[in-house]
Amino acid sequence: MSVHSRPVLAANWKMNLTPAEASSFLDAFLNRYAPRDDRSVILFPSALVFAGVRDRVQPRSDIRLGVQNVSTEEKGAFTGENSAAMAAGAGASFVLVGHSERRHAFGETDVQVAQKCARVVAHGLVPMLCVGETIEQRERGETAEVVLHQLRTGISMLDRAAVRDIMIAYEPVWAIGTGRTATPGDASDVHLVIRAALAGIVGEEARAIPLLYGGSVNAKNAAELLAAPEVEGLLVGGASIDPVQWAEICGR
Ligand code: 13P
Repeated sequence: MSVHSRPVLAANWKMNLTPAEASSFLDAFLNRYAPRDDRSVILFPSALVFAGVRDRVQPRSDIRLGVQNVSTEEKGAFTGENSAAMAAGAGASFVLVGHSERRHAFGETDVQVAQKCARVVAHGLVPMLCVGETIEQRERGETAEVVLHQLRTGISMLDRAAVRDIMIAYEPVWAIGTGRTATPGDASDVHLVIRAALAGIVGEEARAIPLLYGGSVNAKNAAELLAAPEVEGLLVGGASIDPVQWAEICGR
């Protein structure tokens, strides 16, 4: 099955689900969601829960895994960090890079986001680069400018072939965890801008790059978001830690 079977349905568990809770989640989810080859399902558990989840989904080759963050550094004295090499060795295929919570709660800079993308690619993993504007930026009419700046700086250390293999998640900050979802039209508008910018960089091959939407996605609004032009996947937080809702989103 292609990594890029679309839609791409990705669960960002954030700092939720202990090992025991993840195990209960998987009991419920794997029972409810049968393998489908017309979509990609990706789980992003916390690093401490990763190995348990990996072992548990091992018989399910339709479910792929990623980590939520890696260090900008290759290895060494960086207490508390996890490296891209560790993620690759542990069985991850994807890494979230530049999530707005990393940017805003941990002060991650554009340069660090670019370094992480490069580090991730160097270890054969696929970065899922997250971009998105704040409410203030949207109200000032700066959405496209902000998103394109984050996109261009995020991929600035990648060569053309690597850019073709990434995934992008557009997550407006005002829609994350707020219950305020972007309309399908809002999402499409920004995805079109991103697609055009990618086409300017890698040409026709930009079509190969899945563009996901994230921000207050749930089982009720998932279908209409996925039906919007240029929305080829969803990156889901809160609703992805509820196995019933997540199975509904994946199975719809
Ligand atoms: P919510 O789905 O909880 O709004 O989170 C979205 C998100 O940040 C996924 O990365």
